[in-house]
Amino acid sequence: MSKEQFVVTIVGGGSRYTPGILKMLVAEKDRFPLSKAVLYDNEYERNAKIGEYGRILMSEYYPECEVVDTTDPETAFTGIDFAFMQIRAGRLKMRASDEHIALKHGCIGQETCGAGGFAYGMRSIPAVCDIIKDIRKYSPEAWVLNYSNPAAIVAEATKRVFPGDKRIINICDMPVGIMNQYADELGVPRNSIEARYFGLNHYGWFTAILDKKTGEDYLPRLREIFSEDLPEDAFSDIDPSWSATFHFMRKMVRECSDGMMPNTYLQYYLYRDHMLAHEDPNHTRADECMEGHEKQIFEMVEEVIANGKLEGTKHAFTIESLKDDDHASYIADLAYAISHNTHDVFLCMTENTGIIPNFSESAMVEVPCMIGANGVEPLNVGEIPTFQKGLLENQFAYEKLTVDACLEGSYRKALDALTLNRLVGDTDRARALLDDYIEANKGYWPELN
Ligand code: G6P
Ligand code: MN
Repeated sequence: MSKEQFVVTIVGGGSRYTPGILKMLVAEKDRFPLSKAVLYDNEYERNAKIGEYGRILMSEYYPECEVVDTTDPETAFTGIDFAFMQIRAGRLKMRASDEHIALKHGCIGQETCGAGGFAYGMRSIPAVCDIIKDIRKYSPEAWVLNYSNPAAIVAEATKRVFPGDKRIINICDMPVGIMNQYADELGVPRNSIEARYFGLNHYGWFTAILDKKTGEDYLPRLREIFSEDLPEDAFSDIDPSWSATFHFMRKMVRECSDGMMPNTYLQYYLYRDHMLAHEDPNHTRADECMEGHEKQIFEMVEEVIANGKLEGTKHAFTIESLKDDDHASYIADLAYAISHNTHDVFLCMTENTGIIPNFSESAMVEVPCMIGANGVEPLNVGEIPTFQKGLLENQFAYEKLTVDACLEGSYRKALDALTLNRLVGDTDRARALLDDYIEANKGYWPELN
């Protein structure tokens, strides 16, 4: 792509993450220059508020970049180069419903793991696919960088609904978040390492952490660092559930087989009883997000709109100070790698087709991939050990059945999927869960027969 300026549409413009993405685009303006950022959402009010905030932000920090907010697909997707897709079908209210229903039946309802991931997947698949159809109608060549959750299930669905579409890239920021922690603990710059890794999204293991310059593998040193617990006050500045996750990582790493480093999300699958015991049915992660991050972001947005400016208020910032916001910046790194054909390595979801020869051929595995103007080119992984293979085959079968259930409208397959899920694991419980979820998800799920 030899363009001077790009047009990006943020799909899910009304999200609490959008202000962070807009600031990230400001931070990246020299490397990845934009003429326009479009915010698209199906909820007019939130999207319009963030659009208003975005126009004030850009007028001060990035006047070359126009900001448009719209609920109209044609306006949103005509003539764009990239869509950054980060939708949450049913918003946090339905995330809370997923969690509460799961806990009522004695199991974990995390947004991507277990019963919660299933319920959310059944909402996300139709929503994501309908939007990509619109994108393809108005911009057949645009790159769709999708990080809508539950990403593993969404990736399996987009692979089937858009066969051969190499410009849809499914990616997640968790590996980047974990690697940033590794870099900090190793005392090396954050972008100086790259990973070797295999698994499904939110279900994988690091096998090497390589210094990009020297090739040195830091993994043995990291395992040594992780053999000690963190000081109690570490991560005290983030939400309690995430702080607990990073502390728990120490134990997971110490107990991880085959000398690997696990993804944080494995805590739900490998320490199910511990995680369940720490859930509070009256105050789940969705409640924490609604009372915390979401509320703070919208208060900030309202304040900026009321002041009509950031300059001279507590919301002003320097571009330097933005460089630390990793949640958003990996997506600009990815867009940059595509537009400048860098062949940098990212962990992305891509069809297995022999990358892991002893694992299902058609699975959307999360593995290191070179990224350039031709999209994703995966690196080889090789055979994986029996423990991981067993877990992953079970998870993949569950994910596949979930997508089948959604695309075919099959109650039977939905029931099989939930029964197979390691965090449900029982037919009676799966049926009770499914029936409650069907009731709660009217208007979001396809009809199941
Ligand atoms: C990580 C995951 C994402 C998830 C995000 C926020 O970054 O990779 O998939 O959406 O965390 O999770 P939260 O529980 O804070 O909403
Ligand atoms: Mn993720």
